[in-house]
Amino acid sequence: QTIYLKDYTPFGYLVDNVHLTFALSPGATRVTSRIAFRPNPKVTDRVFFLHGEDLKLHWAKIDGADVSPQLTDRGLTCTVPDAPFIFEAEVEIDPAANTALEGLYMSNGMYCTQCEAEGFRKITYYPDRPDVMSVFTVRIEGDENVMLSNGNPVADGDGFAEWQDPWPKPAYLFALVAGDLVNHPDRFTTRSGREVELNIWVRPGDEGKCAFGMEALKKSMKWDEDVYGREYDLDIFNIVAVDDFNMGAMENKGLNIFNSSAVLASAETSTDANFERIEAIIAHEYFHNWTGNRITCRDWFQLCLKEGLTVYRDSQFTSDMRSAPVKRISDVIALRARQFREDNGPLAHPVRPDSFVEINNFYTATVYEKGAELIGMLKTLVGDEAYYKALDLYFERHDGDAATIEDWLNVFQDATGRDLTQFKCWYEEAGTPRLTVSDDFKDGTYTLNFEQKTPPTPGQDVKNPRVIPITVGLLGPNGDEVRESTVLEMTEGKQSFSFDGLSTRPIPSILRGFSAPVILERKTANTERAFLLAHDTDPFNKWEAGNALARDGLIAMVRDGAAPDGAYLDAVQTMARDDDLDPAFRALALGLPSQDDLAQALFDLGHTPDPQAIWDALETLRQARAQAMQDLAPRLYAQFQVNEAYSPDARQAGARALANAALGLITRLDGGSQAQKQYDTADNMTQQLAAWSCLLQAKTGDAATQAFYRQWQHDRLVIDKWFMLQILHAEPEEAANTVKKLTKHTDFTMKNPNRFRATLGALSGSAAGFHHARGEGYKVLADWLIKLDPLNPQTTARMCSAFETWKRYDSGRQALIKAQLDRILATPNLSRDTTEMVSRIRGA
Ligand code: ARG
Ligand code: ZN
Repeated sequence: QTIYLKDYTPFGYLVDNVHLTFALSPGATRVTSRIAFRPNPKVTDRVFFLHGEDLKLHWAKIDGADVSPQLTDRGLTCTVPDAPFIFEAEVEIDPAANTALEGLYMSNGMYCTQCEAEGFRKITYYPDRPDVMSVFTVRIEGDENVMLSNGNPVADGDGFAEWQDPWPKPAYLFALVAGDLVNHPDRFTTRSGREVELNIWVRPGDEGKCAFGMEALKKSMKWDEDVYGREYDLDIFNIVAVDDFNMGAMENKGLNIFNSSAVLASAETSTDANFERIEAIIAHEYFHNWTGNRITCRDWFQLCLKEGLTVYRDSQFTSDMRSAPVKRISDVIALRARQFREDNGPLAHPVRPDSFVEINNFYTATVYEKGAELIGMLKTLVGDEAYYKALDLYFERHDGDAATIEDWLNVFQDATGRDLTQFKCWYEEAGTPRLTVSDDFKDGTYTLNFEQKTPPTPGQDVKNPRVIPITVGLLGPNGDEVRESTVLEMTEGKQSFSFDGLSTRPIPSILRGFSAPVILERKTANTERAFLLAHDTDPFNKWEAGNALARDGLIAMVRDGAAPDGAYLDAVQTMARDDDLDPAFRALALGLPSQDDLAQALFDLGHTPDPQAIWDALETLRQARAQAMQDLAPRLYAQFQVNEAYSPDARQAGARALANAALGLITRLDGGSQAQKQYDTADNMTQQLAAWSCLLQAKTGDAATQAFYRQWQHDRLVIDKWFMLQILHAEPEEAANTVKKLTKHTDFTMKNPNRFRATLGALSGSAAGFHHARGEGYKVLADWLIKLDPLNPQTTARMCSAFETWKRYDSGRQALIKAQLDRILATPNLSRDTTEMVSRIRGA
């Protein structure tokens, strides 16, 4: 059941080429394969095993002669010659019945595929592992007016199309799409002069939602040339939008397939945040062409090799296209919310795991987002120039390879001469390091004393000290920068760093830019945090100071029944009114820690978090802030109205974010009259949704809720928002009931992952509602996970992580959750995916 990294062996055969013919039919598609195998000279013990699942084998041949392979439910074995040979087979599959959305399936009448990680084995018999690479020729036979596969088109005619991909690839990058589709076309000329045809393919009616994605694609292509020197390598690049998709998108060679939510955009239907996410995902999938496709992974343990690097690259891209500080702050908020949560619970695992049961359960925040943080730390440690030199060497040395983390680190060692033995620890050990700091000042010398400790994680009791790049700057009492940012390299468990020649005790700004994914623990006075919020020159730490000030005040409210912190209320107002600050930054700094952040913070301080008390404290603080800012909020609201045609660019989006934060404050005092005005006049989704949220919050949203539905019932992606917001804004005691009511709505379907996540994901994202003491939230979620599992194990398993924080809570809640975990585990025929997730969460 469990697969181990240490057991890796190469496949006994090489694949010279693959020919596939698809005779499409919804209930009975026939796939004929012709695969040229050759013994792998590097392997002595050869076993000919081809993966295959849910396939009906019609016939198989070796070198033209019929054979009868031994079949199991995981694949096929067969006696084969000890010389090159041709394997042929015909199988039948049932795309219409494929609700797991893995392999070849149907979405709204169109054929599409998802093969990563191990979905190709549901299409035909094949060595479905990333280190087996080959060139593919594909013939598609069907009535659809558009039939696409990887690479370049080589022929088409009445009822067929042929595609050839000249670049050797693993099967997980295979893709096929067929349907009655329309395209949004464009062109791109690469810097060496290759003319590339670009298309975004959508269902008729969605043509008007492609322009933004196309611009994002062209910007990505240009950016990868400019920054990494990477050019596109085929004559055509196709993107297809599909409505039913388990993840965001997939980087299939030359044929990226996207969840429609990750590509379709219009001002009327998409928020500023949607536009930014779409730009980032288009870039991410495009960047995979080099980091993922040209250089792929040897095995799935190396997933972070492509994902961590590609997330890092897409975050660089967004920083360049928009505001780098705002992007960094948003990324850290998300990292803490998802990755720190994972790393400090029962699902903690290394960035490069060393075992798994179901690989789909490892497409995690740790592999992706912490994986990207490791790249950022490497870059900080070696410097920009050495980083790009190492990347050039990586592309030169490993183009065409299925590589490992060892290969990656060796490239850096060879390019920079730096020993990365200790750095590798970041890939191999799970858990978030706690970095505690104390300081002293004597005779003009200021000393920072650091200590690092990583708590044990499942299966890893002992942790080693890591190399931690700690970017530090020092401020003088007037807010002047007395020591500019410098990177301290911590390598020991305990280590001190001194700065001399200072006339007065400085105020330290530690971990600038969030230079390492650690939890910084330092007793800091309110006054110092307020000072840093006002004066720090590092935008991340400036934001962090305000965030910590808010958090500490909220903790005191929950724990000690304290009143809202006056220091915070003053400091945040001064910040919000500072017109030298980017409005987008101000909007972020007006955000408050999430309920989940506060629960974890309280738990870390030795308290059992009470979700209702956290909710109440947040409500009280929001109300107090609205009072404190009753003059400022309307001024900001007026000042940041955008009076030009809508554009999703960073400048307009930042202005809207600040104006809408102000609207939130105003609504707490005016009961929603300003929000209603905005709702009635909004001409874009950002303004409409912000106004509707405020009305829901003010409990005066019923009319808007109905109007919103009537206006948008034809648009699935907008209706997802309609489901989600009603649940997010429900009172804690109403959340579970709201879900029960909405899952009875005619537009609810569990077969569409977006709709399922919009509904059940909103429930688990509403901490006080989900954890309401009656346990109804736990039960409703478990009911739906049990229902969805037989249809779609991947999405079910993913959503089980709602329960991963259960050990933080009181014994009553723990008992309620445990009962649901046990009930899920006791379900007959529970999928491997969900069984693994729930068992790990539940523990022994
Ligand atoms: N490689 C894709 C991306 O990062 C994710 C696809 C993962 N899909 C899955 N079913 N595990 O963009
Ligand atoms: Zn990716």
